[in-house]
Amino acid sequence: MARVIAFANQKGGVGKTTTAVSVASFMALANKKVLLIDADPQANATSNLGINGKELERGVYDVLIGQMALREVLFQSPVEGLHIAPATMALAGATVELVPLERREFRLYEAIQSVLYYYDFIIIDCPPSLDLLTINALVAASEVIVPVQCEYFALEGLGQLLNTIQLVQQNLQPNLKIAGAVVTMYDKRNSLSKEVMAELEKHFASRLFKSVIPRNVTLAEAPSFGQPIAAYDRKSKGGKAYAQLTEEIMLY
Ligand SMILES: Nc1ncnc2c1ncn2[C@@H]1O[C@H](COP(=O)(O)OP(=O)(O)OP(=O)(O)O)[C@@H](O)[C@H]1O
Ligand SMILES: [Mg+2]
Repeated sequence: MARVIAFANQKGGVGKTTTAVSVASFMALANKKVLLIDADPQANATSNLGINGKELERGVYDVLIGQMALREVLFQSPVEGLHIAPATMALAGATVELVPLERREFRLYEAIQSVLYYYDFIIIDCPPSLDLLTINALVAASEVIVPVQCEYFALEGLGQLLNTIQLVQQNLQPNLKIAGAVVTMYDKRNSLSKEVMAELEKHFASRLFKSVIPRNVTLAEAPSFGQPIAAYDRKSKGGKAYAQLTEEIMLY
């Protein structure tokens, strides 16, 4: 049965999508069957895999609204073994359109039940908010991983996120576990980075993944080629770091 992992942090630009896409791709390279669900209307995970969500007529939106089964919105990605349920333009309306619907927090959870036995891993990329899309992702997940950017205000907003996760655990999904936080965009030449890192280690203790993702230009470049780092340049510093993180996630 698939392990379902949501990458969430309501803070924007901390590396959620880069981490979700990279980890999903390296899992597929390790011969796992992987599904990446793009739950963000920005459709960055979709475009990072070279797929233009603006041109698609079916995606995660149709599943959430109940118009289509998840199976009907799956696409093959450029990486063998990695499927994607893409975000389309319509997804931007979902947070509002879901409000009056029945079991609005359970829509994604219910949709993935039919494919749980097909995949080894289902990875969900969340939007930078704590709206109904993120709630749907957390309820669907068995684990949540929090990417944290190594910068001065890294811990800001984390209390609110942990609070939301706790509310989901108490009211909607008792099986949800916090797998941990992963530090992204670490810059070893910057002394502030080291200070922030020390603070994160203190705050998260054993819940911090050992693999640290460096700030690396190759990681920033790969999306413009519509390729995950695992395909674009897996031997780059960023590629190696994500390969290591993927191993760590697969093993725990
Ligand atoms: N380790 C890294 N080194 C350099 N650039 C990075 C790294 N990780 C991510 N980036 C770049 O930083 C930007 C933000 O990353 P990303 O899109 O993964 O964050 P996000 O949390 O998903 O953002 P959003 O909240 O908007 O969804 C992107 O342009 C990405 O290419
Ligand atoms: Mg993103």
